[in-house]
Amino acid sequence: MKLLTRSVWFRLRRWRAAHLVLLVALLSVVITGCASTTPTRDDAGSALDPQGPVAADAANLWWLMFALGAVIFVLVVGIMLVAVLRRVRDQGAGDPDAEERSGVRWITVGGIILPLVVLGVVLAYTLRVTEALTNPEPTDLTIEVYGRRWWWEIHYPDNGVITANEIHIPVGVPVQLHLQSADVIHSFWVPQLHGKIDLNPYQRNTIQLQADEAGTYHGQCAEFCGRQHANMRIFVVAQPADVFEAWLAAQGENAEEPEDELAQQGQQVFIESECAYCHSIRGVSEGNNLGPDLTHLASRETIAAGMFDNNRGNLAGWIIDAQQLKPGSLMPTQNLTGEELQALLAYLDSLD
Ligand code: CUA
Repeated sequence: MKLLTRSVWFRLRRWRAAHLVLLVALLSVVITGCASTTPTRDDAGSALDPQGPVAADAANLWWLMFALGAVIFVLVVGIMLVAVLRRVRDQGAGDPDAEERSGVRWITVGGIILPLVVLGVVLAYTLRVTEALTNPEPTDLTIEVYGRRWWWEIHYPDNGVITANEIHIPVGVPVQLHLQSADVIHSFWVPQLHGKIDLNPYQRNTIQLQADEAGTYHGQCAEFCGRQHANMRIFVVAQPADVFEAWLAAQGENAEEPEDELAQQGQQVFIESECAYCHSIRGVSEGNNLGPDLTHLASRETIAAGMFDNNRGNLAGWIIDAQQLKPGSLMPTQNLTGEELQALLAYLDSLD
C-alpha cells in the first residue's frame, strides 16, 4: 500500500513538473508575443514602444509600476515560504510573547509603512504623467478631431482643411489636438504616441501629440461606441516639415475640375445622386458632413476608417453595398448603373 501511494505521489510530481514546464513554455510565448513588431493596420503597435515624449512618460510609469510590483511579489512569496518552512520546523517551540511582538512589527512595516511609501511614489509619478497627458502647452499647429460613428473627421481650422481618418503632423514638433464627439463617446488611442483620451459630445478635450520619428502610427477607437467600434481606426502620419507643409497646402486647395470626359460624367453622377447630400467636395458640394469630406479622397490610404485599402475595387464595393461591408454605418446602398458607377469611380479617382 505504502509503495502504491509513493508511486502515485511520484507520478503526480512528474505530472506537475511536466505541467510546470508546459506553463512556463506557454507563458514565454505569450510574453514574447508582447514584443512590438512592425505595426499592421490591425495592430496598433505597443504602448511600451513609445515614439513620442508623452507616450514615453506613460511607458515609464508602466515600467515603474511593473518593477515595483515584481519586487514586491518576489518579496511576499519569499517571506511566505520562509514563514511556512520555519513554522513547520519550530512548531510549538517559540515564545508566544516574542512571536506576537514580531508579528506586530511585521504588520507595521509590511502592512502600513511599505505600502504607504510604494503607493506614495506611484501616486506622485502618476500625477506628474497625468499632468503631462492632459495639460498640454499651446502649439503652433492645432488640429480638431471629431469622433463619428464610425470614422474620424479631421479639421485643420487655420488652413481650411477637412479630411478623414488620417492625421498628418510634422515630425519632431508638438501639435495640439482638440477632440470632441459628434454623437456618442469615442476614445482616441494611438498607443505609440499618446494614452487614451475620450471624445465626448458637448465637451472638448485637448492633448499634445508629438512623433519623434517619421512614419505612420496606427490607432483605434478605444471606447465601445456601437456595432462597428472595432472598425474605427485612425492613422497619424508624421512627416518631415517640408513634406507636411506640401501636404497641407495641397489639401487646402479646392477639388480640381475633372478633365477626363468619364470623370466629368462621374461628377454629374455625384451631384445628381444621393452622394452630395452627405459628402462635401469643396468647389462642388459643400457643407455636408454626414459622411467624410471627399475633396482629396484619392490622397488617402484607406476608406471606411481603415477597413479597406483605397482602391477602385474596394471603392466600388463600398459605394454599391456598404451595408454588407460595414453594417450599421450611415453609408446607404447606391442604385447605380454600371456606367454610372464607372464614371463615379473615375471622378473619385481624380480627387487627389
Ligand atoms: Cu468610436 Cu468605439
